[in-house]
Parts: sequence; structure tokens; C-alpha cells
Amino acid sequence: MKLRAFPASRLSGSTTVPGDKSISHRALMLAAMAVGESRIHGLLEGADVLATAAALRCLGVAIERAPDGMWQVQGVGVGGLREPDRPLDLGNSGTGARLLLGILAGHPFTSFMTGDDSLRSRPMARVSEPLSRMGARIVARAGGRPPLAVIGTAEPMPITYKLPVASAQVKSAILLAGLNTPGITTVIEPEPTRDHTELMLKGFGATLKVEQTKEGRAVSLTGQPEIFGRKVVVPGDPSSAAFPLAAALIVPGSDIRLPNVGLNPHRIGLIETLLEMGADIAIENRREEAGEPVGDLRVRHGALKGITVPAERAPSMIDEYPILSVVAAFAEGETRMEGLAELRVKESDRLSAMAQGLAACGVKVAEGKDSLTVTGGKAPAGGVRIPVKLDHRIGMSFLVLGMAAQKPVEIDDAEAIGTSFPGFVELMNGLGAVVTKTNR
Ligand code: S3P
Repeated sequence: MKLRAFPASRLSGSTTVPGDKSISHRALMLAAMAVGESRIHGLLEGADVLATAAALRCLGVAIERAPDGMWQVQGVGVGGLREPDRPLDLGNSGTGARLLLGILAGHPFTSFMTGDDSLRSRPMARVSEPLSRMGARIVARAGGRPPLAVIGTAEPMPITYKLPVASAQVKSAILLAGLNTPGITTVIEPEPTRDHTELMLKGFGATLKVEQTKEGRAVSLTGQPEIFGRKVVVPGDPSSAAFPLAAALIVPGSDIRLPNVGLNPHRIGLIETLLEMGADIAIENRREEAGEPVGDLRVRHGALKGITVPAERAPSMIDEYPILSVVAAFAEGETRMEGLAELRVKESDRLSAMAQGLAACGVKVAEGKDSLTVTGGKAPAGGVRIPVKLDHRIGMSFLVLGMAAQKPVEIDDAEAIGTSFPGFVELMNGLGAVVTKTNR
């Protein structure tokens, strides 16, 4: 199934985006390792998170969805998972795969992990290397790519590990391995990344210390705690909110509200950037819910100007560069985004996917090794079909572009969007967008 976004006249109204993907994966995994029942409200029911739930079920965890949408997990306790009798298929999800590898590292059984064409092309050495120092054996295809065989260890060893890449997934995999490891496991991150794992480990009752050291932010976890089931409330995903938000900024006359969006300081680089570009975004009703900051966003269309987005900001908006580069096409002058090397190993090579797609839409764009420069101003021509390459964020980005281009924009794969944003089309159309299905 393909999707086509037509130029829209204006977007208006209020809509709630689905639950945060990062927090949803972590909620299921920590609940699985807690003692007793956890109840998760607002879980993202996207394919990525459902794949994590299915994998945890294969590992012996009872997980059920109540008719009202609440998810119940009967935890087995730290170290209590059992050998799966089939390969664990994490679908499209790098987060699911990498975090689960951390958990499996300290369980003394063998498991096999695979995923879709995108996941099977993604590098896993960044997690298997530190996990093997803790005692696990992870056998991969060439280039460290899945399918993987994971031979967990009965005697995991605590490590102190300095992250060579800014990655919350790697940090989290090591901390989750540290849960079933005696002693103290420490991860040092030179650049801070999203801290949902740390916040949630504390929330479940683990002992965790965070310090600023000369080498960076050091997170130390005391292993083999007893953690207990609890209630988790998942806020709306700021990375999903980014799409209606961007659409409202570029479709003339728009004025929308997005209530209950997660505003973790490590996730809001896009909002900071858009404000610098002159965007009209107000954050209202700031509050905290289950340990995470949240608020309501009001977004109005207006003139935008190009800026340089510094490399240091990349970890706090790593998933938002595709949609930012679309907004940049509507901003006056040049927007230069730096420090983007990690984009090449996401669900697709997002740097080249955006550069090629924007050029096809008639936008002036320059792709560097780890940078992207977009020259904007007038509405892009559009009138093309963009290959999504199994990447939900590429698909949604180009549909948003089509909402404000001169001619409709099509994407070749509707299904990919369901990994993180089920109901995207209905939600956008509810605000006044015109996105239709097409089989041609
Ligand atoms: C995520 C971390 C980021 C992000 C991904 C989700 C997480 O990946 O791109 O979508 O939940 O920890 P990296 O940590 O590899 O940058």
C-alpha cells in the first residue's frame, strides 16, 4: 500500500500522539525483570514495541493487554527469564534488539535474534563488544549484523565502559546487563543521551548513581537488586509529535495543540532548534508524570529562517533530523545540520535518504559525510514518489512535505509507519491534512 499527501489548506485542532517508543520498550523490559505485576498505561502499540512484547513472552514473561488499553506484565524477577524455543524476531527495532541483547547477556542460555531487512543490516558490535567483556558470547554475521546467536553467561562480570559513540541504546544495553551482574556496572558517556533507562531503573527501585566526571557523565548501577512491579505512565512521544508539529509550522494558517508530550531535556533538541528558526511553539501546562517531564504544545504557522544546528545537539534530536530537513526546505536561507554520522546507521541511511528525497522534490540540498545543508524559501515542487526503505521516519517526513508542497508527494510503503506511529494518517487527516491510500 502506498500513501499520497496532498497540499493542505490549514491544520487546526487538538490531538494526542501515541506513547513514547523508547519508554515503552523500557517499561516492558523492566516490568519483565521486576518481581510481581506491573501495569503500563499509554504503552505505544506500534510494531516495534509489540515485537519486544512478543520476544519477552518467548522468554517466559506473561504479558496481556486489558480491554481498556492498559498492559499487565507479570515479572519473573532479575535473572528469571527462560531459554526461548524459537528465534526472537525484533522486526524493525534497533532499540528492542540492542536492549534485549543486554538483558540476554546475563542469562545462562542460548538464544537467537533476528529482524527485518533493515534490522539485519544494522551494526550490533557496538553492544556485543561491551557485553562480551561482561562474559557473554555473541556470534554475528559479517559486520556484526544479525541474525545473532547469544550465549549468555552464568557469571557476568561488572565493567566500567566509556561509550565510543553517543548512544542511549548502548548505554542501556550495558545497564540492563548490569542488572543481573554482581557488583557495580558503570557506563561513562562523553555526550549525554536520553536517560529514560536511568529514570526508570530508579523508579523500579534499583540503586543508581549519576556523577559528572572528567571523562563525562558516569552512571553506576548496583547489580542484582530486587526490583518490584509498579505502575508506569508513558507520555506522548516527542519524536512522533515532531511530525504534526512540523506540518503545522509549514502549512499556512495552521494552529494546533498537542497535549501530553514528553519533554525529557535529552529529547527536545528539535524544539530548541525550531525556536531558534523563529517557530511559534508554546509549551503550556508543564508537569511531571511518573518521573518524566511532560507538557502541552501549541504550534502555529509562521515565517522561519535557516540556522546552523551544532553537532553537540545531535543526541537530543537524533531521530528528528529527517523532519527538521523538511522544515528547513520551507525556511528562508540555509539550514546546516552537523554531526550526523549516526544517521547513516539508523533504520535506513537517513542522511542519503533525505538528501535524495529532498532533491527529488525540487529542494536544493548538499549531503556531506556527516552533514546536511538545505536551502529553503519557496514551497518545494513535490509531485514525486519517495522510497521509504523500511524507515518510518523517512515515510512520515515526506508525507509532511507533501502537505505544503506545490504538488502531492507519495511514499511507496504505508506499513513502515506502523512501527512507531500507528494511526498517523487518521491523526493527520483529523487535523485537516489530506493523505489518501493508493494502490497504483
Ligand atoms: C533510542 C536511542 C536512539 C534513537 C532510537 C531510540 C533509545 O538510538 O535513535 O530511535 O530508545 O534508546 P541511539 O542510542 O543508537 O542513538
